[in-house]
Amino acid sequence: MRSLINILDLSTGEIDELIAVAEDIIADPAKYSEACRGKKLATLFFEPSTRTRLSFEAAMYELGGNVLSVSSGASSSAAKGESVADTAKTVSCYADIIAMRHPKEGAPYVASVNASIPVINAGDGGHNHPTQTLADLLTIHREKGRFENLTVGLCGDLKFGRTVHSLIEAMSRYEGVRFVLISPEELKVPSYVKKDVLARNGIPYVQTEDMESVMPELDILYMTRVQRERFFNEEDYLRLKDSYILTPKKLQNARTDLSIMHPLPRVNEISVAIDDDPRACYFKQVLNGKYMRMALILKLLKEAGR
Ligand code: CP
Repeated sequence: MRSLINILDLSTGEIDELIAVAEDIIADPAKYSEACRGKKLATLFFEPSTRTRLSFEAAMYELGGNVLSVSSGASSSAAKGESVADTAKTVSCYADIIAMRHPKEGAPYVASVNASIPVINAGDGGHNHPTQTLADLLTIHREKGRFENLTVGLCGDLKFGRTVHSLIEAMSRYEGVRFVLISPEELKVPSYVKKDVLARNGIPYVQTEDMESVMPELDILYMTRVQRERFFNEEDYLRLKDSYILTPKKLQNARTDLSIMHPLPRVNEISVAIDDDPRACYFKQVLNGKYMRMALILKLLKEAGR
């Protein structure tokens, strides 16, 4: 049974195909409005979400399908101690496909090996968030027209930021990509990502704490939130939370064709004064996420023969 747990589960050719389907949906949504008639998506979210859960649900409705939803662990039998494996086996009796978010890294994988229907990882702890990466990739493709030969700045919480880890894995497969990793010492990209992804693939990168000094080099600036929920103590969070706040002044030396991205939610790290800057792409990412999730649901249901 084909699931999506890590972005590398998809080849670059398959990502090109998903982008082509998403573009076709954008051009002619009516063509897809009955594509999932009679099919059910179960969204199992054991961690808070606005964009991912609602965009999955909007995606399924726009494909003509239906949705079953668990919107918090407290409202499901997980609160009584039911295992992820048993939850996956149970939901397989009701739905055709599952999108799961869970605070425990690896939980969607456990679900995928126990379910008899496809499972999509909608974010697992500080590990991976492959469908956010699909939204990011469509946005980069629409803004830049390519994935190759780009300098990508990643800024903020690069340690716990699952969207960052998935995006590094995805972009490391394209020629001429270079990363500028901007974070405080305590929130640097984990060594396993540097060793297993960047070093193994010979991808050039620099690490810095100074956003403004590297700004002129960047084609993409991907801002992230410092995630309170991943910290072990409040003191460290309070000390680090405002490490980077992007303001119009800090963009003075940026390229005119810079793309400013953020997976959202935003707290303080991008001033609202930037929202009207034509370089701001973060609300485009939100919409692109729905189209890529539509394309992904179609692909996985088709491969599962459902
Ligand atoms: N980007 C993202 O995952 O947002 P939510 O947490 O609101 O789903």
